[in-house]
Amino acid sequence: MALLSVREATKRFGGLLANEAISFDVEEGELLAVIGPNGAGKTTLFNVISGAYPPTSGSIHFDGRDITGASPHGVAHAGLVRTYQLVQLFKNLTVAENVEIGSHRVTRGGVFSALFRPHWMQQQEKSVSVGARELLRFVGLEAQADDPADTLPYGRQRLLEVARALAARPRLLLLDEPAAGLNTQETEALAEVISRIHLGGTTVILIEHDMSLVMKIAQRIVVLDFGKKIAEGAPDEIKSHPDVIAAYLGGTEILDA
Ligand SMILES: Nc1ncnc2c1ncn2[C@@H]1O[C@H](COP(=O)(O)OP(=O)(O)OP(=O)(O)O)[C@@H](O)[C@H]1O
Ligand SMILES: [Mg+2]
Repeated sequence: MALLSVREATKRFGGLLANEAISFDVEEGELLAVIGPNGAGKTTLFNVISGAYPPTSGSIHFDGRDITGASPHGVAHAGLVRTYQLVQLFKNLTVAENVEIGSHRVTRGGVFSALFRPHWMQQQEKSVSVGARELLRFVGLEAQADDPADTLPYGRQRLLEVARALAARPRLLLLDEPAAGLNTQETEALAEVISRIHLGGTTVILIEHDMSLVMKIAQRIVVLDFGKKIAEGAPDEIKSHPDVIAAYLGGTEILDA
């Protein structure tokens, strides 16, 4: 059984079909890339999968459960965690605190425990903080753990977002253009981190414009254009697919990858 099953997912905004009957599966342990020109419907697809918007029609199943129309919180609780196309950090908090916030899904506690802080909660806080530092080491940000998040250069803020998403211990991680705005060196560091996440057993869906990154790390690619899935296959098949080449303005971008 696929970990994620998207069936005929359609999202309409007024007269615009941002997603039109999109279907695909993602197997446990896979690294799938979703590509397509600007406005193709990639982020909308993530919004529909992650519960930000209910689809107009169609269904989403995760781990055998129907999560169509479930709340973002419910979806995250089930183990499906996303990052955003634009950096969304808590700028006044430290780097480590930003990661600690990500572990919210997997820790317990409420108003009562916040007031009285029983022993188990103090222990949990300790383990959250140790876990956050381990994740910062994993993405190469341990030296900046106590710096305010907004003092990080942009490329490192993107790595911090990945660390924060990992703190929620996802089974399926959705990354929306994590390499946008990164230089070559930063993109390579990010590619390394994504590959290690994948090798560690987490299933990943990556939206990305950087074709060399996609071709290097994706096992399979889904291509969207004007809201529709126009191709799906291994990177080599996608590179030479006539509809994909046509969608990319004559193909220079994708053929150069
Ligand atoms: N909340 C919304 N309300 C109205 N239209 C929207 C909304 N979100 C997206 N759209 C429209 O849906 C289409 C698909 O947008 P989407 O953001 O999914 O594209 P994308 O493939 O992620 O593009 P990009 O590569 O530029 O990030 C666009 O025409 C966009 O303007
Ligand atoms: Mg987008």
